Amino acid sequence: MEYEIRHAVPDDLEAVHQIMLSQSVIDGTMRLPNQSIEATRNRVESHTGYHRLVALKDKKVVGFIELETYPLYPRHKHAGDINFIAIHESHQDKGVGRALMNAVIDLADNWLNLKRLSLEVWTTNQSAIRLYENCGFSIEGTHPAYVFTNGAYGDAHSMGRVLDRE
Ligand SMILES: CC(C)(COP(=O)(O)OP(=O)(O)OC[C@H]1O[C@@H](n2cnc3c(N)ncnc32)[C@H](O)[C@@H]1OP(=O)(O)O)[C@@H](O)C(=O)NCCC(=O)NCCS
Repeated sequence: MEYEIRHAVPDDLEAVHQIMLSQSVIDGTMRLPNQSIEATRNRVESHTGYHRLVALKDKKVVGFIELETYPLYPRHKHAGDINFIAIHESHQDKGVGRALMNAVIDLADNWLNLKRLSLEVWTTNQSAIRLYENCGFSIEGTHPAYVFTNGAYGDAHSMGRVLDRE
């Protein structure tokens, strides 16, 4: 399925916030239940080093991804972190996550000249791990008791993708 991908803008706030209120997004990320829209606002504002994209289906925002880069750190400016990816619950498992990951990887490889991409994912999040592996990420390590979710500690994998280019 084809999705339009573009940079997030402040007018996307309400749609991005609705995505972040869903239970699967709370479970899969550091979000808390019932967070206010103010907790989402910085995700659609412009900040140095942050690249936030949205995916649209029929002009409606159905997915969001955030890449953080470090242009002010000479020794780390070749690296980027995918801090957040979330798809509207009614559009999950239809290729939106893949489309957003492909867009961020194209940005990183072909425009930002990044050599390394990293992310963290809960070890229970099989759909996300599968998506990242399909995009060339591998598990680099596992952090015990990294996150607290609904009354229980959970582990996280660090995953990375290093571009084979000098
Ligand atoms: C994880 C998430 C980003 C994946 O996005 P998506 O649009 O649902 O995924 P896609 O449709 O692009 O599928 C990507 C891959 O995951 C697989 N997948 C999707 N849902 C799956 C599921 N429930 N179980 C197993 N695999 C699944 C797909 O089969 C696909 O693999 P393939 O290319 O081998 O077919 C999305 O489900 C989401 O927003 N989850 C809640 C928030 C979250 O957990 N974010 C990740 C934080 S690290």
